[in-house]
Amino acid sequence: MTAERSPAGGPAIDVHGLVKRFGSKTVVDNVSIRVETGEIYGFLGPNGSGKTTTIRLLCGLLTPDAGEGSCLGLDIRRQSAAIKRQVGYMTQKFSFWEDLSIAENLDFVARMYGLPDRRHRVGEALDRLGLSNRRTQLAGELSGGWKQRLALAACILHGPKLLLLDEPTAGVDPKARREFWDEIHRLAGDGLTVLVSTHYMDEAERCHRIAYIAYGTLMTHGTVDQVIAESGLHTRLVAGDGLHRIATALEGRPGVEMVAVFGSRLHVSGTDEGELDRALAPWAGQADLRITATEPTLEDVFIHLMNRSTDNFR
Ligand SMILES: Nc1ncnc2c1ncn2[C@@H]1O[C@H](COP(=O)(O)OP(=O)(O)OP(=O)(O)O)[C@@H](O)[C@H]1O
Ligand SMILES: [Mg+2]
Repeated sequence: MTAERSPAGGPAIDVHGLVKRFGSKTVVDNVSIRVETGEIYGFLGPNGSGKTTTIRLLCGLLTPDAGEGSCLGLDIRRQSAAIKRQVGYMTQKFSFWEDLSIAENLDFVARMYGLPDRRHRVGEALDRLGLSNRRTQLAGELSGGWKQRLALAACILHGPKLLLLDEPTAGVDPKARREFWDEIHRLAGDGLTVLVSTHYMDEAERCHRIAYIAYGTLMTHGTVDQVIAESGLHTRLVAGDGLHRIATALEGRPGVEMVAVFGSRLHVSGTDEGELDRALAPWAGQADLRITATEPTLEDVFIHLMNRSTDNFR
């Protein structure tokens, strides 16, 4: 049985058929996830689709209404206390004492975990995340990027094997996000497993594998290339002038599921290649336009999946 599997060599997360209801609403519906040890696993999906709830089920903060499985080889229903000791959970909201310094916040977290050798551990975490020079700065005065570093430092202080990061870079500028992700990759290189939720496509592309959840249902998972290839979506790139007019004319035509203008390019997508090309046929011969087949982007695929799940959503 999964729950008895040894953590060494086995998957870090292996859960099946998870269901969570709040009142009459099913917010996590039959979700199964397997994350290999050392992997960076991205968790994507629209607002309110169940990412945070799933993360809380994985680390034993919530009990599923149905389903079972293991986290770090421990049963998510029966061994949640042991799971919490080995997991670093970065919540979606910044939750530190704004009138304490960086070092004081970390020291407080170290006390909470009852860690021996606190001073040393805090020093190590500060160094690791480049926070040493700012150790006396008040948490409330930090910019978004530095706050996230502090949160990550607090997460790794007790030496967890698994990090659950819930939208760790929301509202953080591109450079700080990139540095944060470099650090995630370094941590994974040291053997940590990371499950990270995000709304950013560039971050999805930095994960080894991703999963997309919409309204409680896991719609797809795999590497980015697999997710794109298995989407069944076809995309045509239209380049030239007057794209806005063409976009309006294409909206709602049979075979056209999505039209998106990107500056001087138009992405037109649908699941039926023949119909898609028939919809574009009126513009096909135009000398000032170029229509070519292209691979859908991850964003195209996610919007397609979201449309599909909204259709199914009762
Ligand atoms: N404690 C709760 N009681 C009742 N409903 C809840 C509770 N927690 C979450 N929900 C609902 O469950 C659904 C899923 O919420 P969840 O926070 O898991 O989504 P999410 O994917 O993390 O969204 P976001 O991208 O906005 O963070 C939402 O409709 C939310 O309102
Ligand atoms: Mg959330």
